[in-house]
Amino acid sequence: MLISLFPIILATLPSVLGGQVPIVDGVLGGVRNTNASSSGTVKPADLSVAATTPGKIRAVENTGICETTPGVYSASGYGDLTSTESLFFWYFAARENNDTAPLALWFNGGPGSSSMLGLFQELGPCRINNASTAVSLNPNSWNTKANLLFIDQPVGVGFSHGTMSVGTSEEAAADVWTFLQIFLSDSRFSGLQSHDLAIWTESYGGHYGPTFAAYFLSQNAAIAKGTISGITLNLKTLGVGDGLTDPLSQYPGYITYAGSNPYHALVSTSTITRANTSWLSSTGCKEQITACNNGGSNSVCSAAQSFCNNNILSPLAGDFDVYYILATNPDPYPPDLTSYLKTIETKVGAESTWQETNDNVYDNFAATGDWMRNSRPDLETVIDAGVRVVVYDGDADYILNFNGVEAMVNNLDMQFTSILQAQSFESWTVGGQLAGQVKNAGTFSYIRIYGAGHEVPAYKFGNLAYGQAALQMDSLLIYKTTHHSAYRPLNQSCSDDCGYVFVRAFTVDFGFPECVIIMTTLAYGFTIFQQLSTNVEP
Ligand SMILES: *[C@@H]1O[C@H](CO)[C@@H](O)[C@H](O)[C@H]1NC(C)=O
Ligand SMILES: *[C@@H]1O[C@H](CO)[C@@H](O)[C@H](O)[C@H]1NC(C)=O
Ligand SMILES: *[C@@H]1O[C@H](CO)[C@@H](O)[C@H](O)[C@H]1NC(C)=O
Ligand SMILES: *[C@@H]1O[C@H](CO)[C@@H](O)[C@H](O)[C@H]1NC(C)=O
Ligand SMILES: *[C@@H]1O[C@H](CO)[C@@H](O)[C@H](O)[C@H]1NC(C)=O
Repeated sequence: MLISLFPIILATLPSVLGGQVPIVDGVLGGVRNTNASSSGTVKPADLSVAATTPGKIRAVENTGICETTPGVYSASGYGDLTSTESLFFWYFAARENNDTAPLALWFNGGPGSSSMLGLFQELGPCRINNASTAVSLNPNSWNTKANLLFIDQPVGVGFSHGTMSVGTSEEAAADVWTFLQIFLSDSRFSGLQSHDLAIWTESYGGHYGPTFAAYFLSQNAAIAKGTISGITLNLKTLGVGDGLTDPLSQYPGYITYAGSNPYHALVSTSTITRANTSWLSSTGCKEQITACNNGGSNSVCSAAQSFCNNNILSPLAGDFDVYYILATNPDPYPPDLTSYLKTIETKVGAESTWQETNDNVYDNFAATGDWMRNSRPDLETVIDAGVRVVVYDGDADYILNFNGVEAMVNNLDMQFTSILQAQSFESWTVGGQLAGQVKNAGTFSYIRIYGAGHEVPAYKFGNLAYGQAALQMDSLLIYKTTHHSAYRPLNQSCSDDCGYVFVRAFTVDFGFPECVIIMTTLAYGFTIFQQLSTNVEP
């Protein structure tokens, strides 16, 4: 367990609207200079804490908050890892076929940011309104086809509470694995053990997603060998949106994107030149990340985070919102959740005061320099293990921009590398409308999504509704994981679900709607089979 080098920070920084990454002493993603070396300890619940039940779930069911679709089950509460470590969760059953639908986990990043952001601003069953006073039903919620589980982690984040000892993605993975063991042992959720499991995550999730997935696979292997006991996690899909995975590949992307992106330059040429020097100089960012990645100590990695974010990430943002460069800073959209969550916290079983980002957790990570460590090897392991992986990025996001993410993707060393490198981008259409660009290679896909900021499902593009493009991505992956057939986002005009239904119709049932769709689909027959057959998994 991590002994934090930093004392508890009592002062709360002014929060940035919509911001997941803290601003420390004026630096986005900076490292707090405290010169101290005392151990950070507990900041437990601020409200009265019910007795914890180590190894068990405590939940309230069917509160009717957020998901108001009749008959759709929901539950929220805590999985108590120990008597002093409790992770908050909120589960929504799929709106259709919850007894067979995959189980999709959602994690926001930070580190230290709450997954309530994803729930209420992005892909959950309801959306916060612009006045932050109420929510409305989200027709493009990802629980349309998946059982959806939001988890506030690590301990201390969002509504979670207890001892904040986690300071690396690996430590976070171990706690999430333990949480899932507890969750899937509970009689209300144990039926989900056999369902396909998906991890979806964003932002710092570029570290969390690959690390969690690789950890789940290694735990599965240990269970199979009999060296540990536990529930095998049926991991089939990993989705990473606007993620920080491989800083060495990704940091030059800030320089590229700030100077030239699909919208407008963010800063002057002289600022770009200065950042470029900070990247390349002999003691610069590139050297520091390299030293960190070559077995660097926590302090080497932490210093790299401080230097690179001071000299590259922060100054290159200019006056624009780092999460959505079409707005000046700060963009009030997506709307803040704090006041709304105050009105529902006790009803959903929450026991601590919600904060968008927990600075103590963030500081624990900053102290280990986890930010600058490379999660690309874990991503490669997960792809090579046969997990269906999609990496996606909104083209209006600066903080994890597509230039950086695509450089990371191009550097992937995995079973589909040669296929990927031979590909050029193809149109990605949703509802018959161009919505982005895609590359597919085996079971790996990368999608650049037009018009979207950092929180991709929070945005809309062209005539599409909020979150419509993101939902199609999620649904197509579900059909792939459910049916194990060659996957490809179909390049043609048809309803949003045409790919999903196409495969389902041939493998599961021949109900009347499917028959109609089969007839329609056969009209596309040759094109589709050509597409599929060029992309068959080994
Ligand atoms: C840390 O040490 C430096 C140099 O000794 C000093 O200038 C700075 O004020 C110290 N910071 C804090 C928070 O004590
Ligand atoms: C599935 O939905 C049914 C009907 O609403 C509900 O009773 C059940 O608890 C749900 N189970 C899960 C695991 O979602
Ligand atoms: C909410 O704010 C966003 C961004 O400013 C705006 O595009 C949208 O139209 C607003 N929604 C409503 C319902 O006013
Ligand atoms: C960064 O510096 C290198 C080396 O001087 C130069 O080749 C490159 O064009 C510069 N890039 C930018 C964006 O200024
Ligand atoms: C399908 O792909 C082709 C070639 O990649 C492209 O020219 C065409 O515009 C795409 N069609 C649609 C509807 O996106």
